[in-house]
Amino acid sequence: MRDEVRPAHLRGDRADIVLSVHNLTKTFGTPSGAQVQAVAGVSFDIAAGETLGLVGESGCGKTTVGRALIHLPPPSSGEVVLEGRPMSGLSAAELRALRPRLQMVFQDPISSLNPKHSIADIVEAPLVVLGGIDRRRRQEQVREMLTAVGLDPDIVWNRRPHELSGGQCQRVSIARALILRPRLLICDEPVSSLDVSVQAQILNLLEDAKQRFGLTMLFVAHDLAVVKNISDRVAVMYLGRICEIAPSAQLYGRAAHPYTAALLASVPDPAPQAKRRIGRAIEGEIPSPLDPPSGCRFRTRCPKAAPVCAADEPVLRPIGPDHFVACHFPNL
Ligand SMILES: Nc1ncnc2c1ncn2[C@@H]1O[C@H](COP(=O)(O)OP(=O)(O)OP(=O)(O)O)[C@@H](O)[C@H]1O
Ligand code: SF4
Ligand SMILES: [Mg+2]
Repeated sequence: MRDEVRPAHLRGDRADIVLSVHNLTKTFGTPSGAQVQAVAGVSFDIAAGETLGLVGESGCGKTTVGRALIHLPPPSSGEVVLEGRPMSGLSAAELRALRPRLQMVFQDPISSLNPKHSIADIVEAPLVVLGGIDRRRRQEQVREMLTAVGLDPDIVWNRRPHELSGGQCQRVSIARALILRPRLLICDEPVSSLDVSVQAQILNLLEDAKQRFGLTMLFVAHDLAVVKNISDRVAVMYLGRICEIAPSAQLYGRAAHPYTAALLASVPDPAPQAKRRIGRAIEGEIPSPLDPPSGCRFRTRCPKAAPVCAADEPVLRPIGPDHFVACHFPNL
């Protein structure tokens, strides 16, 4: 990437960047011939050992970003560079060779596991595809990985996914993703379908796995409370674009974008019995990506919107150390 076109929030000067994404777009065609711009020019990078949280409401494009990174399906345009190697233009065989470095835990733990296969076969499958490892060694590795994610291999080995709880299925998904020892793990809403008590266990498991296997992570969630503790930095997405990116503590202490502030306001009060929300929750529906608003995409719901917001689209600009916001009137 040429320096003069690099967005200010990409840290091209650092040697430890594992993943760099520049101006990623993904457009889907609809049966009526219209174009859904699910991701509309997203850039971010993740340094070795870092966890980047990617947060936003349902439909803002989080899963599409994650899937575009693993090229299932590939981005419409933009640059994805993994460990210094651009992924665009790679052949199917070259992409397959890179795949062990980059793995994804999919959004729905139960439906992402083949119901007809045993747990052992599901976790072993990536090793079979990789090839070159004999069956006895593969099964040893499956046993080790099931144990590492907190499952007893002797109990779950021959079971089918429907015989496990949601939390256990998520552990299987994590084991399947880690069996190839990836450098980068993309976790797409790994806890949102789980009970609160199980959510904490899975978050702890991911933290442990991160240390044990030296992972770098992209952690996707629609809830800022979930990403708060696990993320070093957080990127907030709205309607296909990043509107704010900052170190986790900065973002929670000083949300500059009105959308981030509204998301934080909708986090439930942690006090026991409290049903109320801490502040005024975000109002209105997210507009359709088929026809996004002109200028700032958030302007139809923003309490601070002014005429300039409809005319000029704000770009991410620095407002503090490693803190960037795309807004004409940020909360400073
Ligand atoms: N295969 C597809 N064909 C057409 N439109 C799609 C496709 N996949 C996603 N979209 C659209 O792209 C937009 C972004 O979807 P995406 O699933 O990435 O959102 P998300 O942020 O992950 O939402 P959620 O929090 O509900 O998982 C949505 O408007 C969605 O309807
Ligand atoms: S640019 Fe304008 S509409 Fe957009 S978030 Fe900022 S104040 Fe609101
Ligand atoms: Mg999603």
